[in-house]
Amino acid sequence: MYHQPRYDPYESSELFEDGTSARPLPEGTVARGQLRVDTALYAGKDANGEHVSAFPFPITADVLTRGQQRYNAYCAPCHGLSGYGNGMIVERGFSPPSSFHTDRLRNAPVGYYYDVITNGFGRMYSYASRIQPGDRWAIVAYIRALQLSQNASVNDLSPEERQQLQGSQQQGSQPQETQP
Ligand code: HEC
Repeated sequence: MYHQPRYDPYESSELFEDGTSARPLPEGTVARGQLRVDTALYAGKDANGEHVSAFPFPITADVLTRGQQRYNAYCAPCHGLSGYGNGMIVERGFSPPSSFHTDRLRNAPVGYYYDVITNGFGRMYSYASRIQPGDRWAIVAYIRALQLSQNASVNDLSPEERQQLQGSQQQGSQPQETQP
């Protein structure tokens, strides 16, 4: 019973020329569940290897809520709750990342953020093993919302919303206006 007529892992074999019982994978083998042909979704890049500038699926309120929750757990410790790069870990001495509220990062395509989460960037390590692709995109969507929250002008509002804002100002409450 102890010696069974089968090969153990890494056992040698005289049957094959290379002397090992384990066979190399045929070229192009894809493990079950690992076929990732949609490069926009899984790499944040188009067929030419450029970062995509559109999300690969529709961003709903639910996606944003999920993104906020994941951002606050995984990114805020360094990037700060509002994305200024002043999280608690930075306050304790970790090198500070750039603020998300610079023209360079406001104009960076969404695929760039996805790529950084997936592969890391400089001193920031990869989050690929901890954050699944869908959640990475949800986080990117939330970063876009953060960027908008810090760089909105009254002119972005519809006429009705502007009227509402003026109405609430007249009633004495003071909504905060951020200038670009
Ligand atoms: C442990 C701290 C830490 C955590 C957590 C962290 N980052 Fe970073 N991140 C950094 C640092 C530091 C840099 C700058 C690295 C460098 O310049 O070498 C950076 C850089 C970046 C950049 C590139 C900015 C640029 O200047 O181009 C992006 C985008 C980014 N992080 C997004 C994220 C997202 C999204 C998360 C959450 C999934 C996250 N980071 C989690 C520390 C962190």
